[in-house]
Amino acid sequence: MSERSERTSRHSNEASTTPRSGGVDELRFPDHFLWGAATAAYQIEGAARDDGRGPSIWDTFSRTPGKVYQGHTGDVACDHYHRYADDVALMAELGLRAYRFSVAWPRIQPDGTGPANPRGLDFYDRLTDALLDRGIDPIVTLYHWDLPQALGDRGGWTNRDTAEHFATYATAVYARLGDRIDVWTTLNEPWCSAYLGYGNGVHAPGEQDPGAAFTAVHHLLLGHGLAARALRSAGARSVGITVNPADVRPADPESAADAAAVRLVDGLHNRIFLDPLLAGGYPDDVREHVARIIEPTFIRDGDEKLIAAPIDLLGINYYAPGYVAGRPDGAGNDAYPGTEGAVHFVPPTGPLTDMGWMIEPAGLTRLLERIATDYPGVPLLITENGGAFPDKPGADSPDGPTQVMDTDRIAYLDGHLRAAHEAISRGVDLRGYLVWSLLDNFEWAEGYRKRFGIVHVDYLTQRRTPKASARWYQEVISRNGL
Ligand code: FCB
Repeated sequence: MSERSERTSRHSNEASTTPRSGGVDELRFPDHFLWGAATAAYQIEGAARDDGRGPSIWDTFSRTPGKVYQGHTGDVACDHYHRYADDVALMAELGLRAYRFSVAWPRIQPDGTGPANPRGLDFYDRLTDALLDRGIDPIVTLYHWDLPQALGDRGGWTNRDTAEHFATYATAVYARLGDRIDVWTTLNEPWCSAYLGYGNGVHAPGEQDPGAAFTAVHHLLLGHGLAARALRSAGARSVGITVNPADVRPADPESAADAAAVRLVDGLHNRIFLDPLLAGGYPDDVREHVARIIEPTFIRDGDEKLIAAPIDLLGINYYAPGYVAGRPDGAGNDAYPGTEGAVHFVPPTGPLTDMGWMIEPAGLTRLLERIATDYPGVPLLITENGGAFPDKPGADSPDGPTQVMDTDRIAYLDGHLRAAHEAISRGVDLRGYLVWSLLDNFEWAEGYRKRFGIVHVDYLTQRRTPKASARWYQEVISRNGL
């Protein structure tokens, strides 16, 4: 949990540990464990005006002074739109078996509604074929935050119509790619879209309105439900959603006040999404909390039933845990409306990434086990995990100036893969792991200054250089373990 200032086919659920000479155990992942990498359209594609793409709320937001580090935009980004063939060749070289990308809604419907733009669909058609030619499974995310600006102008996710439009858009993408793509996910991290977009305003569209944040939560979930229903009736085999559940911890495990703070924050971050998706509806305590801030007239009869329709896969993005204390003088956090005067969000300590996020792999084991226990029956896929570190090309390298010896990233990934393996050995049905990210990219409000890639991108030349972590990951994939 961070403030963000802060295939899956059936397989035996066997993870094994074998002693290796030298005393270090060798960890093997289950057969058919899906190894891959993830990216998102706005963060890598560039080509912001090519082939009829319309503006998105991120184009607008990044041009708003003071919102994104040094006014960086996604106009060019990694120029992946023009370089996708080379990027796919690199994925194949690294041995990736799966690639999660997102489709930019503004390429498909430049104004958010109306007929699909064939040239926008052509790009994802080419990308899909390039992946399949190399034996890489495509995993689609339909919405990774780049809402068409025209819909933003009509209230974005605070407008119920956006959820209906999302289902129409999903149907258009499926009509073109559904014959070749098996795994479909609707939204990426609706927590961020709602609370960072409308609560603390750190992300597009940059609103700061607690009631709007809760309205957006519901319309995002409704959009998921409507799109999932549309995809299924069109014939989609695997439909899911990606969330970023938080491992919320008490500052003092003995304190009842801290336990209450955990319950509140867990409700606002986790149960407000997971209960409607996987347990039939919103939890009572969360409903009561929301009603103190806004009358939830946006929840209509039938919505919860739609949202709760079974899914085939739950994508989990995990980066860091978060610690909270229950305190009457707690400042709360605008990303968690209604926590002021109740919750103190403990500043992260300890080993941190370049984002200032705590490095605590055990949080991933706890989170996976908790979800498997509280929401049984749905297979899990880690759709994102990785770390930003201040990579210095050339540093410590015997191999010349472009090599990046990112030992801190390797340690981060190694720790989290061990944590994921631990969860599997405790019975969690985890189907795969997608590293965030393939490439250094536009890290939202942080612009290009934070680097998450296992492949270094020189933004002046667009040269890609696999970092040491990419070579390490290649080895992990080839031996299906550590
Ligand atoms: C996740 C986002 C992804 C990236 C990583 C670091 O919240 O889904 O786009 O920014 O964080």
